[in-house]
Amino acid sequence: MTQRDWKIVNPGGSRRVVVTKELPGDRWLQFLTATDCRVEIALGDEILSGAEIVAALGDHCDAAIGQLTESWSAETLGALAAAGASLYSQCAVGYDNVDVAAATRCGLPVGNTPGVLTETTAQLAVALTFAAARRIAEGDRMMRAGEYHGWLPRLLLGTLLYRGTLGIVGAGRIGAAYARMMVEGHKMDLVYFDVRANEELEKYISDYGAFLAAHGERRVTCRRAQALRELLDACNVVSIHAALTGETHHLIGAPELAAMREEAVLVNASRGPLVDEAALVTHCRAHPRFRAGLDVYENEPDMAPGLSELDNVVVVPHLGSATTWTREGMATLAAANVAGILNDWPVWRAVGGLEDVLPFLEGEEPPRAAPSIVNADALGLPRLAAQAAAERGHP
Ligand code: DGY
Repeated sequence: MTQRDWKIVNPGGSRRVVVTKELPGDRWLQFLTATDCRVEIALGDEILSGAEIVAALGDHCDAAIGQLTESWSAETLGALAAAGASLYSQCAVGYDNVDVAAATRCGLPVGNTPGVLTETTAQLAVALTFAAARRIAEGDRMMRAGEYHGWLPRLLLGTLLYRGTLGIVGAGRIGAAYARMMVEGHKMDLVYFDVRANEELEKYISDYGAFLAAHGERRVTCRRAQALRELLDACNVVSIHAALTGETHHLIGAPELAAMREEAVLVNASRGPLVDEAALVTHCRAHPRFRAGLDVYENEPDMAPGLSELDNVVVVPHLGSATTWTREGMATLAAANVAGILNDWPVWRAVGGLEDVLPFLEGEEPPRAAPSIVNADALGLPRLAAQAAAERGHP
């Protein structure tokens, strides 16, 4: 990388912050310049390699804001710590590309951006669910190819999800938001699989069931599956919302696909490697009435051979959080993490929804806190006292 590939904002700032991609909005830069940061932003769309990142960090760097597409390995984080940095801030909620244990060993806080992408990502999962179930992409291709010659009783028949059964794998914030949208909007019964019970979601659906009953309609139900297999054959839709870890890698492979219903819909808007993509290609080829809606891929930006040829698969390029409001919010939270740590402010609450982070996104005087540091407890970082009790244990 050469000097001309970088944009420098606030060149006289006393703290050096390296940002590996241009970010949307202005507020994030206001956080950094108000903290007296000189901000060095890599220009261009290409993904920086570990070596390029290490070169960019140089001998002195106070903080870095990076992306989920980059490898923040022990080596890269070690170089960041050696450059004297106070933290690494990821501009995403997911951080499976970050070796958090290594960062913790170096004493480096790792920031992320929860809260702002919950509803946005859940909406995208809903969009993929119906794009797959109702064959939207196939219809779009037919229209553009001039192959629509008039209404036909058997043209592109899809699956009615109304009053069906929805399965979610991972009932954290995004999974729960998706579940609420699908259950409320389409009166589906819910089965969820998660290592932790989500009592709040269960109560919400129970209350919604009571509301339906009060209006003379059949209740919806919610139950937690004890095993993934129990969910797979019970559901019309299975949507994945779990984090990528060693345990969840290839959570859905050939045996799990075989256990799903012939006309089921599989949605993945979490991380690609949760699904064995080659097995999915084989399954979709053999079962044309099975459908999948994918936002994420095992080896992004590539797709498994054969995936793009399948009519029963809808594919979009990792758009889960891609709304202007959300992406600007992610940039703001990533920068607020930097400002919070560089200013020695405490850490904001560890969990919560949109309302938790709104104070960082609007108003003249944002909280004097770092919004989300994933290894705050491991590093013994102080939290705002009044918020410590708000932790509920869901990512
Ligand atoms: C995240 O933040 O982890 C999302 O995948 C970005 O869309």
